[in-house]
Amino acid sequence: MFFQVRELCSGYGAIRIVMDVSFSVNRGEICVILGRNGVGKTTLMKTMIGSLKTRSGEISFDSRRLERMPLHARARLGIAYVPQGRGVFPSLTVEENLRMGEGIGSGKPPYDEIFAYFPWLRKRLRQKGGTLSGGEQSQLALSRALVGNPRLVLLDEPSEGVQPNIVDEMGNVLARLNRETGLTVILVEQNIEYALRIATTCRIMAKGRLVEEMGKDELSDMETMRRYLAI
Ligand SMILES: Nc1ncnc2c1ncn2[C@@H]1O[C@H](COP(=O)(O)OP(=O)(O)OP(=O)(O)O)[C@@H](O)[C@H]1O
Ligand SMILES: [Mg+2]
Repeated sequence: MFFQVRELCSGYGAIRIVMDVSFSVNRGEICVILGRNGVGKTTLMKTMIGSLKTRSGEISFDSRRLERMPLHARARLGIAYVPQGRGVFPSLTVEENLRMGEGIGSGKPPYDEIFAYFPWLRKRLRQKGGTLSGGEQSQLALSRALVGNPRLVLLDEPSEGVQPNIVDEMGNVLARLNRETGLTVILVEQNIEYALRIATTCRIMAKGRLVEEMGKDELSDMETMRRYLAI
């Protein structure tokens, strides 16, 4: 299995948030994790990348165990993270933001490929990050993650605060990246429409646990979605 989590538990101080989460992701998949506000999606992401300690359980990636490995070592193995809120530095330029991704992953930064997916970046290298729209910041944050040549990218609600038509466009780029480069994606979302359009599998998270798992054929099961997501 390419990426696997088994009975993972984590939290903050005495508070348990992520409880017994198990799932696995094949190479080349787009795995979507849906869940309402506060169910623990970001906490799960932080535990998987290593910015939050694993209390118990296992995380493995490409046959290596990660749960005791520090964040930077996981990144070097090829796991990139695009945090919720994007983490674009507002006073740095587009170029400086991109360069922050250098040295985090491995290999030579694939700038030509990145600019082929996001042509506007090349034209606006001198613009300050803080003056970009939400959608542009989301694309910049993803591009910065791609600078390190990841094999797996974790995205935490990239559509948050992005105009609906731009969300669709972002979904298309993610699907293209996945199809053309084989990049494996774990995507946390509340925006169901575009997420399910590009998903190959979907999990639903509620109260710290994964409560449903759906394959491509079952993704139209809106009854289940509604039950957990209140839509
Ligand atoms: N640093 C922290 N210390 C203590 N509790 C926290 C901390 N961060 C988050 N929590 C709590 O953990 C729970 C899960 O939060 P988390 O951010 O993982 O949820 P989420 O599913 O990502 O929500 P959202 O959709 O709003 O981003 C919430 O009850 C939240 O208040
Ligand atoms: Mg969150």
